[in-house]
Amino acid sequence: MAAERKTPLDFTNMYATHDAFRRDLDRLVTAVEEGRAGSAGVRAGWENFKKQLHLHHTVEDAELWPRVKRAVTGRPKDLALMAEMEAEHAELDPRLEAVDDALARGRADGLAELVGALSTVLRDHMEHEEKSALPLIQEVLTAKDWDAFRGGMARAQGPRGAAVYVPWVCDGAPDEDRDRFLAGMPAPVRMLNRAFWTAGYRKKGFWKG
Ligand SMILES: [Fe+2]
Repeated sequence: MAAERKTPLDFTNMYATHDAFRRDLDRLVTAVEEGRAGSAGVRAGWENFKKQLHLHHTVEDAELWPRVKRAVTGRPKDLALMAEMEAEHAELDPRLEAVDDALARGRADGLAELVGALSTVLRDHMEHEEKSALPLIQEVLTAKDWDAFRGGMARAQGPRGAAVYVPWVCDGAPDEDRDRFLAGMPAPVRMLNRAFWTAGYRKKGFWKG
């Protein structure tokens, strides 16, 4: 009996975005180790990181997990995984606030521990999502579901957000990953990124100083 075939969903953007979060966590950890947490570039990099993470998780909570939950109705193990995804997102909020508060007050004592805790929780969550939730998504969601989720991400970013999001994902990515990510973007986005967005992004000096 041939199993029902469906076109595999493309998770390139999800992995590329997660990698950008991992890269920013590394940059934050390094900045704190080097005593640069108060610099304008690190503060700007942190503000962008928070914004990207908030957007990513808000759209997953609104557009992705509900679709998966509908698709796995009556499957307790899979529903429990969805509850874990939501709980892990919620668990990040106090970690982000703690780092944000310490940075705003210019407090160096305890900052490394707070940043380390945030890094561990977010990395663990993304690994859990990649190892467990993405395979489930691949199994149960349709291409239409996935397009709707991607559309939600694009709407949340808007054109001004895309001008930062695209070069931010590309920043420091291995050539192969960057090329694969850009190849999945509409041609006008690639053109704008090459002609304007990359230069505008560099001027922001995220994590510098
Ligand atoms: Fe994600």
